[in-house]
Parts: sequence; C-alpha cells; structure tokens
Amino acid sequence: MPAPSTYFDLIDTTFDFPQEGIELKQGILHFYSINLMELIRKYGTPLRVFYLPRIAQQIQNARHWFHQAFRRYGYTGKYLYAYCTKSSHFSFVLWEVLRHNVHLEISHTNDLAIVEWLWKKGWINQDILIIANGYKERAYAERIRALYQAGFRNLIPVLDDINELEYYEGLEPPIQIGIRIAAEEEPTFEFYTSRLGIRPSEIIPFYQQRIRNHPSVRLRMLHFFINTGIQDSPYYWSEFSRALEMYIALRDLCPDLDMFNIGGGFPVRNTLRFLYNYEEIVDEIVSQIHQRCAQENIPDPHLITEFGTFTVGEAGAHLFQVLGEKIQNDAERWYMLNGSIMQYIPDTWGLGERFIVLPVNYWDKPYQRVNLGGLSCDAHDYYNSEVHLNHVFLPILPENPQEEPLYVAFLHTGAYQDALAGFGGIQHCLIPAPRYLVIYQDDEGQLHHWLFAEPTSSEAMLNLLGYHQDNPLPTPAQSRTPAGTYEQILIQEL
Ligand SMILES: Cc1ncc(COP(=O)(O)O)c(C=O)c1O
Repeated sequence: MPAPSTYFDLIDTTFDFPQEGIELKQGILHFYSINLMELIRKYGTPLRVFYLPRIAQQIQNARHWFHQAFRRYGYTGKYLYAYCTKSSHFSFVLWEVLRHNVHLEISHTNDLAIVEWLWKKGWINQDILIIANGYKERAYAERIRALYQAGFRNLIPVLDDINELEYYEGLEPPIQIGIRIAAEEEPTFEFYTSRLGIRPSEIIPFYQQRIRNHPSVRLRMLHFFINTGIQDSPYYWSEFSRALEMYIALRDLCPDLDMFNIGGGFPVRNTLRFLYNYEEIVDEIVSQIHQRCAQENIPDPHLITEFGTFTVGEAGAHLFQVLGEKIQNDAERWYMLNGSIMQYIPDTWGLGERFIVLPVNYWDKPYQRVNLGGLSCDAHDYYNSEVHLNHVFLPILPENPQEEPLYVAFLHTGAYQDALAGFGGIQHCLIPAPRYLVIYQDDEGQLHHWLFAEPTSSEAMLNLLGYHQDNPLPTPAQSRTPAGTYEQILIQEL
C-alpha cells in the first residue's frame, strides 16, 4: 500500500473513521455534527466547548447497558445512576444531568451549597439520592445534618473513617449511611492500601460493635471505588470481588443493607482506536453480583454507579489556533498554540492523560510529525503523543500567511480540567482562560449557544492579585526604582 499522502489518508488508513460524534464534512472536522470552523469563525480561539446533549446520551447508554444485563440475568435490584459532581461542577452540567433524573454523588460541604441552590431553583426535590463521600470536616458533617433535618431524607453520608459516625448522633429519624471499603492500590502505586475508606478488616467488627444497635443510623450502602477505574484487569476484578464478598458478609448481619455502590471509573474515548467494551464489562459486573447473591441466597442489591468522566468527558473540546511553527533541531518541530495546554487541559501533564487530537481544517494537506507547544514558558506545556501513534501528526501549515491558519481540536476534555486548573483564576504566565461556549438542547430538540465565559480579562486578573484601590500597602515616599538611562541604571547598580 502506498504511504498515505494527506492527513485524511493517514487517519483513514490508520483508524476506523468516522466515529460517533467525530467526522469530516466538506473537509472540516465536525463534533456531534457541529461544524467546528463555523464555531471558530464566530467565537474565535482558544475556545472551550461543552456540547450538553452528549451528557444525556451517555446517561442513556449506561442505563441501557445495565438494564440489558439485568434482564439477561433476571437481576432483581434497581440500577441507580448518580453523577459525580467533582468531575464538573458547572451549573449547566448539573442542569443537563438532572433533566435525566440522575442522583448525585458529592465530596465537599460546598457541594451541599450547590444542592441547596438546586432545590431552591426547583431543579431537584428533597427526595433525590445524594451520596456524600469524602473524609468529613466538621463543617461538612454539620451541613449534612442540617440538610437531612430540613427534609433531604435520602442524603446518605458514606463513612470514610470510623470516627465519622459520631457526627450523626441523635438524628431522628435515623439517617441512612454507607461505608466505604478501602481498596488495595495498584501494585505499581506508592501505597498498599487507599487512604480513602475504612480498612476491610475493621468493617465487620465496626458494624457489630457500633452500628448495629445505633439508634440514629441505618447502614444501607457499601461503597467501593478504585482510582484506576473500571478495567478488565486482574487487579480490578480482584478488588471488585473483595468488595462483593464484604457486601455479602455484611448483608448477612445487616438486613437493611441493600445498595452496592461501585463508584465511578468508566473511561471515555481518548483515542480513535478505543477498544473498551462497556457492555461486556457491565455484563461481567452484573453477572458476578447476581451469581454470588444467588449462591448466598440474598437479594440482588440495588446497584449504584457514580460516573464522572464518563458523564461529561465526551461533551467537551478545546479548540486552538496554530500560531506558527518552530524547528529547533533536525528532529523537533513545534506548532505553537494560542493558549496553554498545561493550564487548560492539566490532566495532560499532571496525570499523563491522553486525548483525541485532530486538525479542524486542512485534512487535504500532507502531514508531518509535530510537538504542540503552549504559550506559557513552562517546559512541560506541551503535548506530543497519542495513545496509539506515540506521536502527534498534523497537516503542514499553509505557506501563505494570508491563508486561514490551522486549527487543532482536543476532543473529550469535558471532565476535571476546570476543577484541576481552577476556573477563572490566575494561571501560569497570566495566560487567560479560553472563551467558554455551552451548546444545549431545549425540550423541543432545538440547539442553543450560551457564551458562558469570556477569556479572563487583565483587569480581573489584576484585581485578584491585589492591584486595586483597596490595596492597603503604603505608597513609598519616593520611588525606589532606579532612574535614568540604561547606562545610568547600570552605574547605579555598580
Ligand atoms: C468516590 C468517587 N466516586 C466517583 C468518582 C468518579 O470517577 P470517574 O470520573 O472516574 O468516573 C470519583 C473520582 O475521583 C470518586 O472519588
């Protein structure tokens, strides 16, 4: 086969292309049928795009896979989809997920401020299931108590530590609680056991001695989550089975226990050669639980998931312009982007995450291997390897500077980036955040654009840094900066 000559040929011969939500029409990359060049012409770059209907599709997909497996095995519990808010706290994300009747998983007292807002706004009612995870500061536990007493009867604190139980003394009627089992870490990790949750050997005695006859709590849920996500690996299945055996042992003692929460951990497509088989994994999870429960003669638990990445990841994209090309030696060619990769998509340098990176235009041009460079001066502000290609290839740049520049899209960047980078604040080299565009669908199926945030202005940045009228530091009586011409300043230095 001759070597592919254009960028399109490269993708066409290397991957199964087009794919769901990623296609080429009239030579332009489309994201869920949206012409990205049109967005760029209208809103400029750098641009962060959220396409909310994808969130709805993902929720429906997961429900479909679980319900299908439930039917296959005659599973008698229910499937409950909870959204893990930490993966994206934006109001528009909560709006979309709540339109699809999901429950919530939260991690901090400030999440409960969001819950109160949602309730006042009428987006939720008080019966929503809220799973409160995390090691609890007093303020968090007190807010849980307050909301419970205000009528949120399905607010379930998941004990991360045995001492947390004390926070729930005296609640009437008894509050439903969960216990998080501490997982063993992956063999390559620095620690043996996760710091999150209660160590397995303590759980049964803790239940027997302190929970069983406790007047203010009822144990309803066993929670299990591992950092590396749900993978078809011996490590995952061995941890899953340890948690399932713990559920069975606890259920034997505690007839109230009826929820098995397997946390988050579904991945999103981070390469065009994504081989993860969601249906098979769900099938295996459901069949293992059902089989073991049948053997032990206990009812199938209600199965809860807390997908964060999976819910919002594929809804997001970042669009950049390539400002220019730098060739630093015979092998290293840089495409300089008009934003910061390290800052906008911090997963890439902090966690080594990979995303689908594609050009928006010029698919008909020859391609070359490049490194993508961000605008900050940090050596780590770069991106240069796809999951399968181990390189980034992009079309060559137009020769004539009058021609349209090359634009590049990072796809499926919807989860965690804003939380890790700190939305709206001061960032590296004072590079402003990108413009944020939200595309949402109304009940009639009509798509709308909401220009959610402008790039951070220099005024806003200066204000945050204390360059404002209320700055209390005294003005020096006379300026202490050296004065004069460059030569005079040098003399003063000497
Ligand atoms: C307890 C818990 N549940 C759910 C999640 C969401 O995980 P993911 O984004 O992989 O679905 C997390 C992520 O850290 C978590 O800590």
